Amino acid sequence: MNARVLALCNQKGGVGKTTSTFHLARAAVLEGLRVLVIDADPQGNITTVLGDGISEDTAGLADALSDRSAATLAQVIVPGIWDGLSVVPTTGETLGVARDELVLSGAGRESRLRRELENVRAEYDLILIDCAPSLDQLTINSLTAADAVVIITQSKLFSANGIAKLLGTIDLVREHYNPALEIAAFLVNQHEARTIGGAHWADQISAAAEQRSVTVLAPPVPKRIVISDAMESTQGLDEWGSETRELVEIYEGYIRALMEKGK
Ligand SMILES: Nc1ncnc2c1ncn2[C@@H]1O[C@H](COP(=O)(O)OP(=O)(O)O)[C@@H](O)[C@H]1O
Ligand SMILES: [Mg+2]
Repeated sequence: MNARVLALCNQKGGVGKTTSTFHLARAAVLEGLRVLVIDADPQGNITTVLGDGISEDTAGLADALSDRSAATLAQVIVPGIWDGLSVVPTTGETLGVARDELVLSGAGRESRLRRELENVRAEYDLILIDCAPSLDQLTINSLTAADAVVIITQSKLFSANGIAKLLGTIDLVREHYNPALEIAAFLVNQHEARTIGGAHWADQISAAAEQRSVTVLAPPVPKRIVISDAMESTQGLDEWGSETRELVEIYEGYIRALMEKGK
C-alpha cells in the first residue's frame, strides 16, 4: 500500500498551514500511522518543530530537488520527534535557491518531487506536505506530487479572490501534470464562532466549498493559544492535560476523514 499524499496549501501566510501540519502529524502518529512530513516552505518552520537533531547544514528537500546535488529524497529523510514520524527538512536559505533553479530549469521540473516520492511512498501511510505561502514552482511541485490538497483557510483572512487563484492553480496542475489531483477538504483554522464576522466568513467558506463539491472539515479549529503554545514547545495537544481533549478529538476526526477519502 502506498502512502496517501496530502498537500496543505494556501498562498497566504499565517493561515495555519504549519500549525495544521504539526497537529495532524501528531494525530496520525497517535493513530499508529507511519507519517512523513515534507517541509516545502523555504522558511523551514515545520522542520524547526518536528525535526530531530537538525542543524543549519543538514541536507534536505532542496538537495533532493536540485540538479547540483546527487542526493535522493530517501537520503535526506531524518527522524522526527515522535515514534512513527519522519521529516524531509528545510534549513537555511537552501530551498529558496532550489526554487530559483527550478524556475530556470527545463522539462520535467514540475514533477521532481513526485518522482522522488515514488521511491519512498511504500514506507509510509501518510505524507503531509507543508506548502510555501506562494503559488510558485515549489507549490506546483507539491501539488504535482500530491493525491489531494487540503486548503487551509482562516475565517478572518478568507478571500474569495485568493481561493479562486488557488483553485485556478489546482486546475492548471490537473490539466498538465497531475490529472488525479483531488481537493480533499477545506480546513478552517482559528475560527471565532462567537463573533459576527466568524459566522459570516463560515458562510462564505461553505459557499466556496459547495461550488466545488468539496467538504469543509467539521467542526472548525478554534482560535486557542494552546494550539500555538503546544507547537512551539513541540508537544502534542494530547500531552497538555485534560483541557485540550476537545482539540485532540478535532484533529483525530480530521485524520480519519482525510484517510477515509483515500480508500
Ligand atoms: N488555531 C489557532 N489558534 C491560535 N493560534 C494559531 C492557530 N493556528 C495558528 N496559530 C498561530 O498563527 C500563526 C500562523 O500560523 P502558521 O501555522 O505558521 O501559518 P502558515 O504556515 O499558514 O504561515 C502562528 O503564530 C501560529 O502559532
Ligand atoms: Mg508555514
